[in-house]
Parts: sequence; structure tokens; C-alpha cells
Amino acid sequence: MEPDGAVLKRRAAEAALGQVADGMVLGLGSGSTAEAFVAALGARIAAGELRDICGVATSERTTVLAQRVGVPLTTLERQPQPDLAIDGADEVDPLLTLIKGRGGALLREKVVAASAARFIVIVDGSKLVTRLGQRTALPVELVAFATPLVTRRLQQLGGNPALRRHADGSPFITDEGHVILDTRFAAIDAPDVLASQIAAIPGVAAHGLFVGLAGAAIVASHDGITWRRR
Ligand code: A5P
Repeated sequence: MEPDGAVLKRRAAEAALGQVADGMVLGLGSGSTAEAFVAALGARIAAGELRDICGVATSERTTVLAQRVGVPLTTLERQPQPDLAIDGADEVDPLLTLIKGRGGALLREKVVAASAARFIVIVDGSKLVTRLGQRTALPVELVAFATPLVTRRLQQLGGNPALRRHADGSPFITDEGHVILDTRFAAIDAPDVLASQIAAIPGVAAHGLFVGLAGAAIVASHDGITWRRR
């Protein structure tokens, strides 16, 4: 039997399809919820229910999935401002500030979300939090050379960074060739301030705080679909 979480993620993904119209350029997120969206999008295209769609993928994994399910792909060079980006999140607060990046695609995800005319986040209800950072470590993507400096600076900011590793102990390397420090904070009271402080550390390529990017959230819970807007 399909686990509950997967059913809810698929419902959020299907609700997002209601925002897609013929001819749109879409930012295609990463992670299981975004993958549910890409799969559903491919099915609509195959059925002839959506035409002239193309997507900008936020990870190699999403690229492979889009190709497999028949979603035509493009690039930000060709389409600098996608009409709509759809992506999941690890945590969503009441102002629609997000923590993203457990899948390791945060840098490209942030670039695509910031490029798009609209960014809608799709989640199941378990992702809603009152305060960011209580459950999830904040991913910080950096050039490997800068690891000692970034580690020290994150500690000075009150974080507890740990290098993300594969099960065999080797460092996780992102699609852009960087490493990730998963950084626990007791609680993130001022995400905008912390976002600026982390972005200013030399060697940091991106962090998983998405401030002011999501215009709306589609939340799937056992009670149905609800929209949250900023
Ligand atoms: C990928 O890097 C992440 O930002 C995902 O969007 C996030 O981890 C949510 O993933 P799920 O949809 O798998 O929960």
C-alpha cells in the first residue's frame, strides 16, 4: 500500500497542475514532491491535454525524469524567465520562507525560483512549521576549499555544521561540484538576517533559506488542499 505521505505529495503536485496552461515555460523542482509534479505533467502532455510546454530542470535527477516522462526541456539561457516554478520544500513557515536542499539541489533550485515570474511551493502538511530550523538542518552549499572557514563562521552564527556524506563515508557532491554542510540551529528567529550572514561568508555558493521567493504554497493534508499566500 502507498504510504500516506506519498499520496499527499501527489495530491499537492496534481493541484499545481491546475496552474499550468499551454505554452508555459516551467521551472521543474527536485525531490519527491517535485518529481510527482513532473510525472503528472508528463502524463498530461502525453494525453494531449497540455501543449507547447517546456521545463527548466533544477537537477540532473529531474532532467532524467523529465526526459523519461516526455517533458521537453530548455535552459535559462534560452528562457531566462520561466512563467512558473514548482518545487517542494523541507520546511515552510507562515510567511512562506522555506528551508530547502535535503535533496542537495538547493543552488539550482534557488536560481530557477528566483528567475521565474511565479514560484509555488508544493508540500504535504507535515512540512508546515511555526519557526524554521526546529526539525531540519539548514543545508549550506560551498566550494570544498572553503570548508574550514565556512564551518567556523557557521559555528560563530550559532550553527552546528556537519559535512553531508554518502553511506560509504564519501562526501556528497552537488550537481555543481560543491559540498554541503548540514547546519543545525536551535531555532531560526530571523531567517532574513541569517540568510544575509551566511551568503556573505566567502566560499558559500548557496544556502537553503528561501526568503521572499515563494508567492504561494499548495498544502495537501488529510482535510484536502489548501492554498497559503504571502
Ligand atoms: C531538494 O534539494 C529539496 O529542496 C527538496 O525540494 C526538498 O528536500 C523537499 O523534498 P521532498 O519533496 O522529497 O520532501
